[in-house]
Amino acid sequence: MSDKPELSLQLKCNWRDKKALNLSGLDKKRQALMKEAAGHFSRLKHIFGPDERSLDRSTCFAHTDSSTSYMYFNALHHIEFSLITREIIDDLQNGARLLSVGSGPADLERMLHFGFGVPAENIEVADLELHPALSRTDFKVHQFSMFSEWPQFGRPFKYILFPESLGVAISPFKAEFFNKHRYCSVITHRFHNDLECVEKAFFSGTLKDVRQEDIRQMLQVIEMDLPWMPHVLNMLKSALANLESGGQIRLNGHLLPTQSIAYLGIMLLEHNPQVGIELGDVNPLIISK
Ligand SMILES: C[S@@+](CC[C@H](N)C(=O)[O-])C[C@H]1O[C@@H](n2cnc3c(N)ncnc32)[C@H](O)[C@@H]1O
Repeated sequence: MSDKPELSLQLKCNWRDKKALNLSGLDKKRQALMKEAAGHFSRLKHIFGPDERSLDRSTCFAHTDSSTSYMYFNALHHIEFSLITREIIDDLQNGARLLSVGSGPADLERMLHFGFGVPAENIEVADLELHPALSRTDFKVHQFSMFSEWPQFGRPFKYILFPESLGVAISPFKAEFFNKHRYCSVITHRFHNDLECVEKAFFSGTLKDVRQEDIRQMLQVIEMDLPWMPHVLNMLKSALANLESGGQIRLNGHLLPTQSIAYLGIMLLEHNPQVGIELGDVNPLIISK
């Protein structure tokens, strides 16, 4: 047996034993939603395996399987980190449409449908590789890389979620660059003070007071030193093109450093001044249209 399945098996066993739902430090709304989702797990034993039902926050509600090296996260994790909220669930129950990109086995999306009663026709899922668990759902499934051309969906979505997927998806770009340059950093330190001024101005809404050449310099340095960022930008443009007006793109997981978020914000706002970029209080990056 190779190392990987053994490790996977061991992690699974540890996680399966953790049953306690710890709600400390969470606001009342998230506590209530997590309790509701935890309640659904107990009646959905035929839908979720024991590894997908862990209630323990210290393990991030994650499980893996022996066929991939990915960690997968259940609905409780995505509620804890506000990728999904009560308001979004209400909206989906009432007809809003969701696309989940990098959905893996769709633990969150299955909970939305089987637990919270969101109609399956309101949920579409997409991934580079389709996980076998998707065949046990009625969701419309799309297979593509988030960085390549997006398919025609017919209608725009109210919500496009990237549940713990962007960080994983950009890692091959980073690995290629780090290997080539024998250098590994996710922020650039060149012209540090200049770049920091632009970044701060972006987040404080005072970009109009910054000289255009300073902004251009910041964008150019980031594109040179963090060459995966233009891929992320194009990917977000594809997502925006498939988002309805008033909709939201929500991302969580290995979030981008604030320097990169400022780059994306400046570039997106240049052509779409109506777009909003917000770093949520508990992790998610929210882009609204
Ligand atoms: C850490 S898993 C998260 C899965 C699931 N959303 C969750 O919350 O458990 C990352 C997922 O991103 C997918 N992924 C990786 N690169 C991708 C790409 N370029 N385009 C679309 N999906 C990708 C992987 O196949 C995997 O299912």
